[in-house]
Amino acid sequence: MTSIIRNHDLAAAGQKKIAWVEHYMPTLNNIGERLKKEQTFQDKTVVVSVHLEAKTAYLALVLHRAGAKVVVTGSNPLSTQDDVAAALVAEGLTVYATYNCTEEEYFSYLNAALDHKPHIIIDDGGDLVHLLHTTRKDAQERLIGGTEETTTGVIRLRGLEKEGTLQFPMIAANDSYCKYLFDNRYGTGQSTWDGIMRTTNLTVVGKRVVIAGYGWCGRGCAMRAKGLGAHVIVTEVDPIKAIEAVFDGFEVMPMEKAAEKGDIFVTLTGDKDVITRKDMEKMKDGVLLANAGHFDVEINKNDLNDLAVRHFEGRHNIESYELSDGRIINLLAEGRLVNLAAGDGHPAEIMDLSFAVQALAAEYLLHKGKSLENRVYVLPKETDMAVASVKLHSMGYEIDTLSKEQRTYLNLD
Ligand code: NAI
Repeated sequence: MTSIIRNHDLAAAGQKKIAWVEHYMPTLNNIGERLKKEQTFQDKTVVVSVHLEAKTAYLALVLHRAGAKVVVTGSNPLSTQDDVAAALVAEGLTVYATYNCTEEEYFSYLNAALDHKPHIIIDDGGDLVHLLHTTRKDAQERLIGGTEETTTGVIRLRGLEKEGTLQFPMIAANDSYCKYLFDNRYGTGQSTWDGIMRTTNLTVVGKRVVIAGYGWCGRGCAMRAKGLGAHVIVTEVDPIKAIEAVFDGFEVMPMEKAAEKGDIFVTLTGDKDVITRKDMEKMKDGVLLANAGHFDVEINKNDLNDLAVRHFEGRHNIESYELSDGRIINLLAEGRLVNLAAGDGHPAEIMDLSFAVQALAAEYLLHKGKSLENRVYVLPKETDMAVASVKLHSMGYEIDTLSKEQRTYLNLD
């Protein structure tokens, strides 16, 4: 089955992007070397459905070099980079992904990938898993299990697990410490602002930034906004997280109140309808709305459309909605993950950790095989520690080790 990509001629540009990130992913390099030597994934088909940019491509290549037949597709219509897709095809991988595809095309790509009857899937947000549980049960034929990259996908998986309807084992890669602590917090923190700044070419300093959701992503995003000189307001529904935000030095209030104060709004909740018409009605002229949560449901786009008298492209990747009184509300990247749909995603050094976890999760599935139940698993702590040790070493840091006596004193043995 031949690949479906935008333009094969873009391969050289994509290869350059992949070579760049490879240099900054020492942990994945280290793990990849071993997997390649052992040909861990020989005769196995792995479907990767993660935002298709250079770091993901490098993970796909690591699995390919470790013997897998790798089939790659995107995980969001706006986050695929066509040159990176072309580079993977040039390396002999099968790819079904195009930038700015329609919803229909997006699902046709996922289906085409599932036609390969994977042994392992690497999912991001749960769309592959959803298909495998509904219209594509046939593609479970050889499936050992899969891994899930993000919080929203893990929430969907735990829903299936709770109902008792999960049909194969899934590893919540997102829930490894080496994933969420660095990727969700520091990765989203930096790349969200990168996406917003490069798309708008406006300042953050001096602005009132409203961060919706003070989870792992929200904390990172608020922290970086503060560093950029913004006055940060946090909205939350969890009273504990709200206290944390207050103690971290931020103003906390409901969205309805924040709506009239903010200049830039960023949603990172994984929830829907976080910003709706009643909030939009109160917003100042020229505000920027961006989402970094997994799905484009956090900012209610139907409400924005209903409220506006017209809309136009304010700048590349920004849709400007004009209200009846002349106020403009700017929506970045169609309300899709702004760091990926309007940027290059997380920095390579961050994805080095996340994808090291993913590669080890895929290996774990292979080794455990049929002994795993149809449940959501988190990788053992030792795996996290091993990933962290390689990373720390690669960054040139050393730390102390516990003596036998200290281990006994701490009840560790
Ligand atoms: P989390 O569960 O740690 O945090 C979410 C927070 O939002 C919680 O504190 C929750 O109480 C709060 N929340 C829920 N509904 C809310 C509402 N209506 N108003 C205000 N706060 C609300 O989740 P995490 O890891 O921070 O992920 C958040 C989203 O970001 C998920 O969709 C996840 O998949 C996605 N994500 C995106 C990344 C990116 O590259 N843009 C990277 C990692 C995760």
